[in-house]
Amino acid sequence: MALRVGVVGGGQLARMMIAPAVELGVEIRVLAEDEGMSASLAATAVGDYRDADTVLAFARDVDVVTFDHEHVPQDVLATLVGEGIAVHPGPDALKFAQDKLVMRARLEELGMPQPDWAAVTNADELQAFIDDHGGRAVVKTPRGGYDGKGVRVVSAGTEADDWFATLAEDARGGALLVEELVDFTRELAQQVARRPSGAVRAYPVVETVQRDGVCAEVIAPAPHSSDRLQQVAAGIGVSIAEGLGVTGMLAVELFETTDERLLVNELAMRPHNSGHWSQDGAVTSQFEQHLRAVLDLPLGDTDPVAGWAVMVNILGGPAEESLDARFAAAMDEHPQAKVHTYGKAPRPGRKVGHVNVVGDELDDVAYQARAAASFFLG
Ligand SMILES: Nc1ncnc2c1ncn2[C@@H]1O[C@H](COP(=O)(O)OP(=O)(O)OP(=O)(O)O)[C@@H](O)[C@H]1O
Ligand SMILES: [Mg+2]
Repeated sequence: MALRVGVVGGGQLARMMIAPAVELGVEIRVLAEDEGMSASLAATAVGDYRDADTVLAFARDVDVVTFDHEHVPQDVLATLVGEGIAVHPGPDALKFAQDKLVMRARLEELGMPQPDWAAVTNADELQAFIDDHGGRAVVKTPRGGYDGKGVRVVSAGTEADDWFATLAEDARGGALLVEELVDFTRELAQQVARRPSGAVRAYPVVETVQRDGVCAEVIAPAPHSSDRLQQVAAGIGVSIAEGLGVTGMLAVELFETTDERLLVNELAMRPHNSGHWSQDGAVTSQFEQHLRAVLDLPLGDTDPVAGWAVMVNILGGPAEESLDARFAAAMDEHPQAKVHTYGKAPRPGRKVGHVNVVGDELDDVAYQARAAASFFLG
């Protein structure tokens, strides 16, 4: 019988696991939040991932449960594990991707380089941190943020009063994370795959470009990266994967500072936007690798298939049409571009697809990717 992977969450990451699952002959089942989601092609159930009975019923019919996002509550995960279901990444690893304060504390224990940070529970504590860090800082809600939502640059302790108020209403209580405002030259991401039985493989470190807090573009490998930079980044990725017991794909978002240090920004324990280039630019895509890893199969080669790969996100999409209305023009102009779409309705700022281009001349590869993606905008 075919191996069966169950993915909780029906977004584009689950969707992009479908093609490699079909190729491998792995049966993929998705528990989607709603009808008509990105991964609806493989949705065998629709239901609430916060409900233990719903997730358990879904999980009983698969060999391993994995995720499209990190929002499944710990008590639901504990129920699955208690029933003997294989869950990868497991709850003990996932908790570090679910809560940025928990992550910061653990990375400190592991001796990982990271921005100065603190947990703050009121405006006075926040003001004290700001005063100690040159008059500005970055405040983050520890849980539930994505695409820059839940991240705010502040210069006064009162600028997070709304978030403190929300925390006060939360039964769990808690604190906000505050970090020094890092003076970075660029942002990088390091991906690592790890099997439950321990083997790890690192991908080349990549450069990520954020606009308005959202990933806009990725260049693989990161240009101008010395052997030392590549080794340090891979070392951080492997240390975190092993130190936190991550299984499946791990993405470590990094800042490269003006004095050439790497600092850990945040973690994702699933395929990640910074790895979409690997679909067309690496021997083994992150989506195939994630399936292999969570099934504890041997990991695939992570080498690039060409000198460069550039991934450009399609953010928002066409104002009045679907993406496919623009296919013909984009494909005609840029036959080397690989267009990936998520089956989502265009909406301002929303990630609805991306374009990958691979080749040996970075200028040309980047130009082609940006130009092809622009056909889907406006
Ligand atoms: N301490 C910091 N100093 C400077 N810039 C920061 C800092 N923390 C975050 N940023 C900027 O804000 C962006 C979003 O922050 P972060 O990655 O923590 O949030 P997120 O919403 O969880 O992100 P994602 O879009 O990856 O889900 C970062 O990519 C970076 O550009
Ligand atoms: Mg981020």
